[in-house]
Amino acid sequence: MSEKKRIAVIPGDGIGKEVIPQAVRAIQAVGAPVELTSFDWGADRYLADKTTVPPEGFSMLARDFDAILVGAFGDPRVPSNIHAREILLGMRFQMDLYANVRPVRLMDASLCPLKGVEPKDVDFVVIRENTEGVYGDLGGVFKQGTPDEIAIQEDVNTRKGVERIIRYAFEYCVSNRKLDGPPRRRVLMCDKSNAMTHAGGLWQRVFKEVSAEYPAIETEHMYVDALCMQMVRDPRPFDVIVTNNMFGDIITDLAAGLQGGVGMAASGNLHPGRTSMFEPVHGSAPPIAGKNIANPFGAILTAVMMLADLGLKADAERIEGAVLEAVREKKTTQDIGGTLGTREAGAWVAERVSRF
Ligand code: NAD
Ligand code: IPM
Ligand code: MN
Repeated sequence: MSEKKRIAVIPGDGIGKEVIPQAVRAIQAVGAPVELTSFDWGADRYLADKTTVPPEGFSMLARDFDAILVGAFGDPRVPSNIHAREILLGMRFQMDLYANVRPVRLMDASLCPLKGVEPKDVDFVVIRENTEGVYGDLGGVFKQGTPDEIAIQEDVNTRKGVERIIRYAFEYCVSNRKLDGPPRRRVLMCDKSNAMTHAGGLWQRVFKEVSAEYPAIETEHMYVDALCMQMVRDPRPFDVIVTNNMFGDIITDLAAGLQGGVGMAASGNLHPGRTSMFEPVHGSAPPIAGKNIANPFGAILTAVMMLADLGLKADAERIEGAVLEAVREKKTTQDIGGTLGTREAGAWVAERVSRF
């Protein structure tokens, strides 16, 4: 028998502590060959002892684990958000998880706010650059507190960073199919090169160069503003979208709206060959935390992504099938039309998984 996959589980703050246990429950119900180890990194720990990431935390994760399953970070008691930056962005940057893969899939027509849109019409993926852009937080403030105050937030775009994410998108396009079977065939690069000419120019040049290596794949370009409009007018033409860190953040919340809201959206933070980190797209949602109303399906579908990435495809498919059934039978939380609580929706999925 092959060795068990080692998974670090970091529920984090707010609803992260409610949805991650449901994802873990599904993993256990399917009998996946994994060993789970939990970590208490988050606001409570930070408030108790000022630790965000313990010493050597990232190297420990990379060395001792095959994957990391994360909830969300953000707590009103830590207004600076320092722990969230150090833990979440710390994992992305320090572990160099450069590809943030965010699939956008509609499970049932009833979940989409658009008229006449079927599940087959919403099946695309956003490949978000995850280690550069404005997220590096380079810059500074000058003459703070005076009427002449200046705040500079730099947008960092390296050739290495742009090239590897664009190449990742093409490789993703080559090696993944649409859910109803046909191959993926188009990569769309999204930028704002009409206004941000330096960064945009680099993205444009690299996109052209890398696309020449993939003659079988169609290419397209859209400015991010036009893309947002198109996404809510008609999401059908989208296939693989590649974009920078910030545009990727924004358009994946918009795209989540097509899936039934952020409660349904999954993501993976990847660097091929390294320990990767998986987290739902949503945040810690403080106003609904602790009420047993958060939708656990984004977290469960994130576990599905993680298991598939670890090579446990059959287990991943069984859990995904159970979520699909729950959605169709309205065994869900209220945000997507059901009447169940977080725990009850998670229990329904786990029960269905163990019956397959
Ligand atoms: P959010 O995603 O937490 O919430 C946005 C809206 O979606 C809210 O109305 C919330 O109630 C709802 N929502 C979110 N998840 C849901 C779920 N599973 N089921 C049902 N409804 C859900 O975003 P926000 O309010 O902008 O941020 C709250 C905190 O989370 C902030 O501190 C923010 O920085 C942090 N955040 C963290 C992550 C992360 O750790 N990955 C991601 C996004 C935001
Ligand atoms: C996300 C979140 C994070 C981001 C925040 C919490 C820094 O919104 O994962 O989408 O902007 O990347
Ligand atoms: Mn976001």
